[in-house]
Amino acid sequence: MKALVLSLLCATAATTVQAADPQVPYPQGYREWHHVKSMVIEEGHPLFGAFGGIHHLYANDKAMKGYRGESFPEGSVIIFDLLEAVRDGNAVTEGARKVVGVMHKDSKKFKATGGWGFEGFGGGDPAKRVVATNAASACFACHQPQKAQDYTFSRLRD
Ligand code: HEC
Repeated sequence: MKALVLSLLCATAATTVQAADPQVPYPQGYREWHHVKSMVIEEGHPLFGAFGGIHHLYANDKAMKGYRGESFPEGSVIIFDLLEAVRDGNAVTEGARKVVGVMHKDSKKFKATGGWGFEGFGGGDPAKRVVATNAASACFACHQPQKAQDYTFSRLRD
């Protein structure tokens, strides 16, 4: 009996380890967070292919502490909300949502990528994970040189 319990415990532990592939949660309610800044990336810009359009950055309360200091506390979440840029006469307006990019600070879970989990939700759909296990090459590789700013590029403005 003792042996059985022990082997069951071991099996459970093994399953837990396997299932520990860390996932970035969908950032529910981020549109009510703090707006950090916005930017339009037009055709001809080197990042147009991946990030062309209008993006707005949002930060939760914890991430705001990071923007005001040097490093971001655990639980910081920053959003890169990317929308189509629609030219309409002499105006540029927001079109359909392309992707909701997320950086989620959890130093233990996302140790391999600077303590940040990176994910993208296609069209803003919580079920469409476009990064999944490719965070290191698809996202972190480009953010890595920003180590001095805890792997972020943007700065808060007045
Ligand atoms: C080729 C470089 C590059 C790649 C690849 C890249 N990013 Fe970024 N990312 C940037 C730049 C530059 C900014 C700053 C944008 C601004 O100031 O508006 C940024 C900003 C962000 C921000 C806001 C916080 C910050 O760093 O300022 C988030 C969130 C983000 N990216 C998520 C992602 C995710 C998720 C991926 C992978 C799908 C990704 N990024 C891939 C260059 C990149």
